[in-house]
Amino acid sequence: MSQMSDTGAMDTYEAIISKRDIRHYTDQPIADDVMGRVLQAGRMAGSAKNLEVNRLIVVQDQAGQDALAEAGDFSSWIGSSAAIVGFASPQKDTRLFDVGRQAQNMMIAAHAEGLATCPVTLHHQDKARSAVGLPADWDMTMIITMGWPIAEVPDSPLKRTRVPLDDLVRYDRWS
Ligand SMILES: Cc1cc2nc3c(=O)[nH]c(=O)nc-3n(C[C@H](O)[C@H](O)[C@H](O)COP(=O)(O)O)c2cc1C
Repeated sequence: MSQMSDTGAMDTYEAIISKRDIRHYTDQPIADDVMGRVLQAGRMAGSAKNLEVNRLIVVQDQAGQDALAEAGDFSSWIGSSAAIVGFASPQKDTRLFDVGRQAQNMMIAAHAEGLATCPVTLHHQDKARSAVGLPADWDMTMIITMGWPIAEVPDSPLKRTRVPLDDLVRYDRWS
């Protein structure tokens, strides 16, 4: 059951723990104000030394999404996204923790808006660069897909369980 605040917004903790990665979207576009809030959530993520070296590339056109689909080994489905957001980093200063913070901020903000999202790996950087016109000394190894979920979401082919808390967490020492 979703916990809603007095304003109708999803409770923060509920948004975090109920988020699942969803790969099936309707044809409905994402309105500019909704997309703006999601991008702002990414922008506000802290970065190492406040350097903010990453840049976000929003890909909505079909040709661009189809080209990106060719850049990953598990990304054939991504062309049906309402939008794809790519995380571009300069090769000389790649900060994946920063990317992760931006991506999770955006996916949680999107989930609270009712949007579905999924992270996707781009294994082939030559194809990723060519798809979005990225300079030769930049990489874009991670993207997130976004769209409005279809009513009957087919279940993920991957398990939707998580490691139990008492296996995940160790206190003070490894064992
Ligand atoms: C770093 C990372 C890379 C991922 N790469 C892909 C990918 O290439 N293709 C894909 O379909 N899903 C990808 N995923 C999504 C995972 O499969 C998903 O997070 C996991 O199965 C949990 O899904 P759930 O929320 O349904 O439990 C990736 C997730 C992460 C965190």
